[in-house]
Amino acid sequence: MSTQSITITQPDDWHVHLRDDAMLTQVASYTARQFGRAIIMPNLATPVTTTALAAAYRDRILAATKGQPDFQPLMTAYLTDTIDANDLVQGHQQGVLTAAKLYPANATTNSAFGVSDVKTIYPVLEAMQKAGMPLLVHGEVVSHDVDIFDREALFIETTMEPLLKAMPELKVVFEHITTKDAADFVASSGDNIAATITAHHLQINRNDMLVGGIRPHLYCLPVAKRELHRLALRQAATSGSKKFFLGTDTAPHRIGDKESACGCAGIFSAPHALENYLQVFEEENAIEHFEAFASFNGPDFYRLPRNEKTITLEKKEQTVPEVIGEGDLAVMPYRAGEVLGWQFT
Ligand code: DOR
Ligand code: ZN
Repeated sequence: MSTQSITITQPDDWHVHLRDDAMLTQVASYTARQFGRAIIMPNLATPVTTTALAAAYRDRILAATKGQPDFQPLMTAYLTDTIDANDLVQGHQQGVLTAAKLYPANATTNSAFGVSDVKTIYPVLEAMQKAGMPLLVHGEVVSHDVDIFDREALFIETTMEPLLKAMPELKVVFEHITTKDAADFVASSGDNIAATITAHHLQINRNDMLVGGIRPHLYCLPVAKRELHRLALRQAATSGSKKFFLGTDTAPHRIGDKESACGCAGIFSAPHALENYLQVFEEENAIEHFEAFASFNGPDFYRLPRNEKTITLEKKEQTVPEVIGEGDLAVMPYRAGEVLGWQFT
C-alpha cells in the first residue's frame, strides 16, 4: 500500500520574503501556518541594514502573525558597502540577527544598495566568521556581459571560492541554488557550507517558463535553468545529504508587477510549499529523506534546536486557488489552478 499520510517534525523555511505593510499582513500567515521558523530576507524597499531596523521589522512580523503565536521569524541584516560590523555582530550576540545576507548590487529585487565588490566587506565577513554568524549569499555575478544562465556558475569561481579560501571557517549558505555546478560545489565543500533549494527549482526548468508563451509567474532569480540542472538539484535535495535544506524563496509581487512589460522576479510559493516539496520526494522515491531536508538539516546547520511539534500531510487532492488577495494586493500563488496530490492538514 502506498503512503497515505506522513507525520514529521515541524519544518522551517530558511529563505522567505514577507515584504511589509499590507502585503506583509496578507502573506505572513501562509508561511506561519506551515513552518515553525523562517529566515526573513531583508530586501525591503528600505533595506534592513541595522539591528534596530531588524528588531522593528520583527515586531511588525509578529503583529502580522499574532494568530500564530508559535511562529518565530529569524531576522537577517542586508549587507552594504558601508555596513557597521560592530552593530552586526552585536545584533547577532543579542539574538536579534540570525544571519546577514549578501546581495551583489543590482542582482535582484531591491538590491540596489547591495555590495559592489565582496572584497570591500572582507573585514565585516571576518568579524562574522569570528562570531560564528552565518553569511547567506545570493550567488550570481551581475556584469552585463555575463549571460543570465551562466551567472550562478561564474559566481562560484569569481567570488565563492576566493571568499572561502580567505575565510575557511565562515559559515555560508548558498541560497536558492539552481545549477549542478552549485550543487556539486556545496557537496564537495566543508561542513561550513550548505545550500537552500526552492520547490520551484526542483519542479520547473526554463522551458516551463518560456515554451508555448512566456509565463511571468514562473520568473524568478536566479532564473530556472536547463533540465540537467533541475535533475541535479532533485538528486542533491533527496540524497539524504545534510548540506541541503528547505528554503522556498517565496517572493510575492502584485499581479500587475508580474504581468508587465518589465515583470518582477519572484514566485509566491508559501501557500503550498510543503505539498510541493513532498511531491518531489515522493517522485524520487525518497520520502525517507524528506524530514531531514525539511526539518533537521537547517536547524543543525544554524546550530538551533530542532522543532518539537509535528505536522502531518495527507495524500488528498486539492486545487491551488487562482488568486490570493484582492484588488491591488492580489497575488498569484505558485501552480495556481493546478491539482496537488498532498494536503497539509
Ligand atoms: O526571484 C526572486 N525574488 N529572487 C530574489 O532574489 C529576490 C526575490 C524578491 O525579493 O522578489
Ligand atoms: Zn530570496
